[in-house]
Amino acid sequence: MMTPDAYIPQLYGRSKGHALRSNHQRLMAGLLPRVAMPDPEKGPVDLDALFPGTEKFALEVGFGGGEHLAWQAARNPKTGYIGAEPFLNGVAKLLQLIEKEGLSNVRVRHGDARPLTEALPSARFSRIFVLHPDPWPKKRHYKRRMISPWFFSQAARLLTPGGALRVASDIPDYVRWTLMHAQQAPQFDWTAERAADWRVRPDDWPQTRYEAKAMKEGRPPAYLEFRRQ
Ligand SMILES: C[S@@+](CC[C@H](N)C(=O)[O-])C[C@H]1O[C@@H](n2cnc3c(N)ncnc32)[C@H](O)[C@@H]1O
Repeated sequence: MMTPDAYIPQLYGRSKGHALRSNHQRLMAGLLPRVAMPDPEKGPVDLDALFPGTEKFALEVGFGGGEHLAWQAARNPKTGYIGAEPFLNGVAKLLQLIEKEGLSNVRVRHGDARPLTEALPSARFSRIFVLHPDPWPKKRHYKRRMISPWFFSQAARLLTPGGALRVASDIPDYVRWTLMHAQQAPQFDWTAERAADWRVRPDDWPQTRYEAKAMKEGRPPAYLEFRRQ
């Protein structure tokens, strides 16, 4: 059984897809160095240096193509958004959105979110998003799932009191898994009071391509929100 202070440093799926188009190559070479998070292995992250004058922060773990992150960042320009994603093509897509929408409040980690999470300061984040985390469907791989005792303890450390952890999944077993771990995390309350609270996507939560595909294939997601006490 995994302890709250550990994670298995293994990624699910691909970290590279098709070769990058020339525009994406340009963004990876030119824009990424300007918006990249510092290497978390080099020490604690200084949020105030990265986002001067910013008081609110949010983190997205595994942003995929970045649609949700860019949507949130565009509507909350005074919040500093940090996104982590190991999939190269996803990072390039987010960079394209950052450029197109002129977002100055986004910083990007191209890589595993977990060492970054450990390097972030405590009690500064108002929201953490983990939307459709990779399923790791085999029982012997459950301990590699992002949602874990380790993750809940990190989320409890990072969030401000009243802050929210949002998790979505279209896989019933992963939804049960998340609720089970949430129940074992005494710092969090599940905010749902009726079925519609987790069955209907809130207005401030845009649909991603991944979610649209899941819906089309008959897998409606659960939208879970846990409040930090
Ligand atoms: C099923 S996709 C969902 C993408 C996106 N959140 C969405 O809803 O459209 C899961 C994403 O998590 C990313 N991921 C997997 N392990 C990760 C890790 N350790 N840190 C950050 N992202 C991770 C994958 O590369 C992938 O893009």
